[in-house]
Amino acid sequence: MISFCCLRLKRESKNKFMSSIVIFYSRTGNTQFVAETIASVLGSELIPLKDKKKRSGALGWLLAGRDAFLERQTEIEAVSLDLNKYDLILLGCPNWAANLPPAIRTFLTAKDFSGKKVALFCTQDSMGAEKVFNSLRRLATGADIVSEKYFNKVNKNKDVVRWQIKEWLEGLNTSARG
Ligand SMILES: Cc1cc2nc3c(=O)[nH]c(=O)nc-3n(C[C@H](O)[C@H](O)[C@H](O)COP(=O)(O)O)c2cc1C
Repeated sequence: MISFCCLRLKRESKNKFMSSIVIFYSRTGNTQFVAETIASVLGSELIPLKDKKKRSGALGWLLAGRDAFLERQTEIEAVSLDLNKYDLILLGCPNWAANLPPAIRTFLTAKDFSGKKVALFCTQDSMGAEKVFNSLRRLATGADIVSEKYFNKVNKNKDVVRWQIKEWLEGLNTSARG
């Protein structure tokens, strides 16, 4: 049943964007699930951002919250990327204390999005996404932000989230072409 749904998702949304890329950071897999689902629907390239700082475990969680709150950057693994190759860039991260994970902050600070259409997404448990989007918008300099979408409790609602992604991408197609 699930694979049938995935096939339908893919077929209905195929080839709407000529060229797209999903760039994301994920600590525990929720944002990765969303990013991979988007990439599979749109046929996008997929770039995970990797924080060189260890963020697993209870201590990792605590320090993650602190670093996000203090709006810190971090060292990330190098990514080779020419943003000009893409018609649409989808940027995603988890909500950390209503702020950004350092890895996405570092990435955005180093890039120029002038003239690029960018769609933002984030995952969270329940609240704070608006502040995450405010920060993403501020850092994605020059970007034409075409849409923002958050997904709650992804690991508990994967089937629902798949359909939310499908609906979002269909709406996004209209605005991104405007
Ligand atoms: C340090 C930290 C702070 C968080 N703060 C919030 C928050 O303010 N609001 C919220 O709804 N979820 C919060 N969460 C939950 C995550 O946003 C959520 O689990 C997200 O889907 C994790 O994504 P990931 O699996 O891609 O890392 C926080 C998680 C961490 C690790």
